Amino acid sequence: MNHGGGRLTLADYAESARRRLEPGVWDFVAGGAGDERTLAANSAAFDRVRLRPRMLSGVAEPALGTRVLGRAWAAPLGVAPMAYHTLLHPDGEVATAAAAGAAGVPFVVSTFAGRTFDDIAAATASPLWLQVYCFRDRGVTRGLVERAAQAGFEALVLTVDAPRLGRRLRDVRNGFRLPPGIEPANLPGTGFSSPGEHARTAFDPALDWTVVEWLRSISPLPVLIKGVLTASDTRRAIRAGADGVVVSNHGGRQLDGAPATLEVLPEIAAEVSGRCAVLLDGGVRRGGDVLAALALGADAVLLGRPVLHGLAVAGRDGVADVLGIVNEELADAMALSGCPAVADAGPPLVVPAGDGRPAAAVRPRPAVSEGLAKEDLHSSVSDPVLDTMNFLNEITHRYPDAISFAPGRPYDGFFDPEQLFAHIRRYMDHLAASGHSPAQVRDALFQYGPTSGQIRELVAKSLRLDENIDVPAESVVVTVGCQEAMLLALRALVAGPDDALLVSSPCYVGITGAARLLDVEPTAVEEGPDGFRCADLETALRAERGRGRRPRAFYVIPDHSNPSGATMGLEERHELLKLAAREDFLILEDSPYRLVSPGRQLPTLKSLDRERRVIQLGSFAKSLFPGARVGYAVADQLVTDRAGNTSLLADELTRIKSMVTVNTSALSQAVVGGMLLAGEGGAAEHNTDTARHYGEAMRATIRELDAALPEAERAALGVRWNRPSGGFFLTVTVPFPADNAALARSAEEFGVIWTPMSYFYPQGGGERTLRLSVSYLTHADIHEGTARLARFIRVAARH
Ligand SMILES: Cc1cc2nc3c(=O)[nH]c(=O)nc-3n(C[C@H](O)[C@H](O)[C@H](O)COP(=O)(O)O)c2cc1C
Repeated sequence: MNHGGGRLTLADYAESARRRLEPGVWDFVAGGAGDERTLAANSAAFDRVRLRPRMLSGVAEPALGTRVLGRAWAAPLGVAPMAYHTLLHPDGEVATAAAAGAAGVPFVVSTFAGRTFDDIAAATASPLWLQVYCFRDRGVTRGLVERAAQAGFEALVLTVDAPRLGRRLRDVRNGFRLPPGIEPANLPGTGFSSPGEHARTAFDPALDWTVVEWLRSISPLPVLIKGVLTASDTRRAIRAGADGVVVSNHGGRQLDGAPATLEVLPEIAAEVSGRCAVLLDGGVRRGGDVLAALALGADAVLLGRPVLHGLAVAGRDGVADVLGIVNEELADAMALSGCPAVADAGPPLVVPAGDGRPAAAVRPRPAVSEGLAKEDLHSSVSDPVLDTMNFLNEITHRYPDAISFAPGRPYDGFFDPEQLFAHIRRYMDHLAASGHSPAQVRDALFQYGPTSGQIRELVAKSLRLDENIDVPAESVVVTVGCQEAMLLALRALVAGPDDALLVSSPCYVGITGAARLLDVEPTAVEEGPDGFRCADLETALRAERGRGRRPRAFYVIPDHSNPSGATMGLEERHELLKLAAREDFLILEDSPYRLVSPGRQLPTLKSLDRERRVIQLGSFAKSLFPGARVGYAVADQLVTDRAGNTSLLADELTRIKSMVTVNTSALSQAVVGGMLLAGEGGAAEHNTDTARHYGEAMRATIRELDAALPEAERAALGVRWNRPSGGFFLTVTVPFPADNAALARSAEEFGVIWTPMSYFYPQGGGERTLRLSVSYLTHADIHEGTARLARFIRVAARH
């Protein structure tokens, strides 16, 4: 890009602006509160972070685009709210909006904008958000919000760090007054010439967190809280229903001595854990600073003073150039550090200055005696995936009377505690009948058992009977639930950072969570409207190879998938097996819902597998009972060492399992073994009633939804759902963001709970879809729950 007047950096723009502006105006923009320690700390924090270069990463054109609150931004960058752009240029906010619009980035318009909302909105097609100061007279604030909404603004940013304005000593010394004609164009009244004085009389100094609720009650727009600097305030903001937080100290203009925003970002990002958007402002002066903030947990940053510098120097063009410089620098930084896309930026990308180690944070660590710093723990504990269910649990707990379509639990009605004893007895009799002495039977229940499992023969037999999968018992490892099977398979298969795991997306969180525990970042292969497509997997495989990575395995739930409910067709199954052979990868097949679904099921991938391409990850949680925590892996692949000795992959999984859970509970295996024996050796026998029950629950849910939101109405609203023939889940697409805020509202006001589908997309997506689980509810609950859901959808769709 040809930058204006030889200005190549934001520092060049600051210098030009300083020369051009009256000293009093320059000080008003540049200054901070008190001794300006926080102001200085903001940029110093960026100076203390180094970016780690990555060589030969193949990142030619880094993708700067991102999504925030469901809207596409051309770059992870927006304009921070700042009062009176008209002080810097007569076009004021209109020029800024035009430049932001041209760059495809959002603009947060201050309560004290010098131009009207309508004029600003006419200048840009990019998102506009309103920054809100709450006045003593709530009517003034309400009027402001309503006018912004009418002008098409998309979100509210409530500034919470300014119940009064900070002591800005430069302004005090200069006796700074706004020049005549510089006024807030969207506020009634007069007396604005001294910003500090005006704030003292007009701002409500006694605000507490109920203001968020109030704001939400007067406007349907998403609300972000600006000025959050601690984990505890972040928690409060989320509890109050915030859709996002802006980590900000007001550019050092409020509490002098407050920490730099970058310093506290990791703490806040860890607290948020994906529950809402995280933005940061303060001291961002280069593209590399943007990347550092992304790496430490921000979804995007806001740029403050440099925008005003651009405006002062050359109006709209100046702002455009400032944004362009940052974007170019960001693209350079991403390419040179091997970061292909915004979502790929994470802690390993940065390191504190003077330290060779990857940094989780630049914050000084407390001594262990003072407690542990979360960022000193493995990154998985701060991973949103591992936290997704917390919000759901919290909501379920908070609204116990709500009908919940969230849990994928089996229906309780089929469980009889007394039966457990009969199953154990049957298993003991089976051991005795097959030649075990009384002492051996006792040991089988009381002692450590074989790591690979003592019921692998029974499991192998059940696979033959139920699923036509014919494998020797030696290829079965009995695991602690299917979750352990996933962990073992991933640990064995992914040998290093260049081995790629691909997952069908939306994806069961168990596999993404297990992957993250092992520092494996799964690559999402997006399902189409009718489920998984081989062609998309093939493209993703090629892309991985292009990045120098070896596609190792592809995880998929072919039948009645969790969460989408989709089922892979027979042809697609054959094609997937052929693709695996051609492209040389393994398939991780997870199929927990087959036996509990009505009607004939398509053959499993494993039963069609002639080349030992499929590792089946099995579960008895749905077909017998989840409390047993018994699952299995079928891994009949041959493994050859350098000396030419061979083993089965199952043996290697067993080796790993010996250091994870040693063996699966002998008692649980006894119960499951006894159940399989009762079912003539298979689990299908136990499931004729359950499959009918779940099938009816699914049909009832679809029927009730059809009745509650008739076809014409849902077409008008833009609502639709899929119609799985089995499994526990279906998905509903809605015309509004189905996020945590919507869920909270649905639970509180309409008494119905569901799961946001965005939880299940490892690389973003599903923002307007929700998942319903039908397994756990009675028909009466389904009837009432769908009626409540329809009411919620109707109301939410209207806003
Ligand atoms: C001149 C000026 C005016 C500002 N006005 C507002 C405002 O009206 N509302 C608000 O929330 N923040 C306001 N801020 C703070 C910015 O939104 C932002 O937090 C800060 O400027 C970011 O830091 P940076 O300037 O170092 O990029 C203002 C900042 C400046 C420099």
